[in-house]
Amino acid sequence: MNHYFRHDILIIGSGAAGLALALNLSKHAKIAVLSKNRLQDGSTWYAQGGIAAVLDNKDSIDDHVKDTIKAGGGLCHPDAVKFTVENSADAIAWLIEQGVNFTRNENNDDFHLTKEGGHSHRRIIHSTDATGKEVHSTLIERIKSSDNIDLFEQHIAVDLIQQADASSKRLRCSGAYVYSREQDRVSTFQAKIVILATGGASKAYLYTSNPDGASGDGIAMAWRSGCRIANMEFNQFHPTCLYHPKAKTVLLTEALRGEGAYLTLPNGERFMHRFDSQKELAPRDIVARAIDHEIKRLGCDHLYLDISHKPKEFIDTHFPNVKESCLTYGIDITKDPIPVVPAAHYTCGGIMVDKNGQTDLLNLYAIGETSFTGLHGANRMASNSLLECIVYARSAAEHIQQNIALIDETDTPKEWDESRVKDSDEDVVIAHNWDELRRFMWDYVGIVRTQKRLERAQHRIKLLQREIADYYSNYKVGNDLIELRNLTTVAQLIIRSAMERKESRGLHYSLDYPNLGRIARDTILVPTNFAAQNIIVDKLE
Ligand code: FAD
Ligand code: SIN
Repeated sequence: MNHYFRHDILIIGSGAAGLALALNLSKHAKIAVLSKNRLQDGSTWYAQGGIAAVLDNKDSIDDHVKDTIKAGGGLCHPDAVKFTVENSADAIAWLIEQGVNFTRNENNDDFHLTKEGGHSHRRIIHSTDATGKEVHSTLIERIKSSDNIDLFEQHIAVDLIQQADASSKRLRCSGAYVYSREQDRVSTFQAKIVILATGGASKAYLYTSNPDGASGDGIAMAWRSGCRIANMEFNQFHPTCLYHPKAKTVLLTEALRGEGAYLTLPNGERFMHRFDSQKELAPRDIVARAIDHEIKRLGCDHLYLDISHKPKEFIDTHFPNVKESCLTYGIDITKDPIPVVPAAHYTCGGIMVDKNGQTDLLNLYAIGETSFTGLHGANRMASNSLLECIVYARSAAEHIQQNIALIDETDTPKEWDESRVKDSDEDVVIAHNWDELRRFMWDYVGIVRTQKRLERAQHRIKLLQREIADYYSNYKVGNDLIELRNLTTVAQLIIRSAMERKESRGLHYSLDYPNLGRIARDTILVPTNFAAQNIIVDKLE
């Protein structure tokens, strides 16, 4: 059995970001792509609404930039927004070239563009209401036919490998230790360049639209390796997830509201006009907070989303998948209002990168939801995420292609050491801590925060971290332990960032600091082993 693998490039994650990068580099290098479950088990597969891009003559780059910056509550980095939007049409053209089928308009003379919150134009290109599945299955098909790409499903990266770089006298990333769920052991993956494309961290919350696996592994690994992490307090809550005792993660796409669905109270009354002049199409932070406010004011469990006033044929054509998902829970959206609650949806913060996806650690890149490019600011505008995945995958690929020939191989890294750990005999500790963490994050670090609640969360996270560190150093690693360890790190980063922000801005709303501060600042957390300063004198062992 092979426990050591060597490639030019190691991509950790097989979502839109990871696969787009792999496809853009497959002619130039030998690549390994890791997926901790099956290839399709990430958020990408579940994306519904679509991808924002400037594709219509009446739209403009300026307007898309302005809308993104407005939704982002003053924290978007204008250069990152401009870069992303300017590359949006090319990113869509590349997806079409790969074979993605986007929905066409009624006359079949162009693509149908839908609308979502915060957008001043119809600019969301989509595949009915299952855009992610179409994009992801197309990329997976393409990747499977590439000779240069080795796919490793059920392989979860545990930690990054760092070695000395002789020429720069810095530490550099040269691979990862990877746990194989099938073989129940840790292998060494060595590579000249490593890319984190591990998705978001919304599993830190009890209620989430995200699939299992969104445990922020990339963010936690990068932090442990000395990379800066920014703006983790801005966890986005999607306003409309299905409320049903048996439904785990059913999202009700914002495109429903874009095409005319109303939000209503239990008595059928609309209420969004009391919160924002854009009503149901206000940016997500405002809509989620309004729903949370009304639920608490009325003491009810959920509100409603209602599209039943639209013709049945229209709903059947535009939202076939949402309709079918709801029907499995006995709700016919062509006739009934849909019970909804907000749920954790998207990690706006992440690993700090430049416009080529480079992190603070030499030869380590990050792309997609795990990264912080500056695009989303304090609140991501709908459908800008898949766009960011493709645009940055392409720019990172170009940068890697230009530089990889200059990178020397490192010596073979040390093997993973399991000599001092034993098999776990108390898995209940892991299950209990998973539940506890996600519940107190929901209760204390959710849509509306206070300093007192954050302090409570901080107290608990410290206890959990100690317990998990102890567990980690004494027992063999397994999937749940790896994810819990990472989630605890990410939760701690979210709490720390939320405590540092003494204002309310975008997705971060504090009852103690309800006003917007005068100066817009990112929250940048710098690890004690900050990689950009890790100058080494002798060879590291
Ligand atoms: P993901 O697609 O989440 O993939 C992460 C990958 O990393 C997976 O392959 C996973 O197995 C792997 N991984 C993670 N950790 C490890 C590890 N330790 N070792 C090995 N592999 C690992 N955005 C839009 O722009 N438009 C939409 O319409 C839209 N709708 C959405 C609907 C839903 C229900 C959800 C949940 C999100 C939606 N989003 C949407 C957001 C968007 O889908 C995600 O932000 C985007 O798909 C993230 O892509 P990614 O490649 O960064 O990560
Ligand atoms: C949705 O379809 O509402 C999700 C869009 C997004 O998260 O960007």
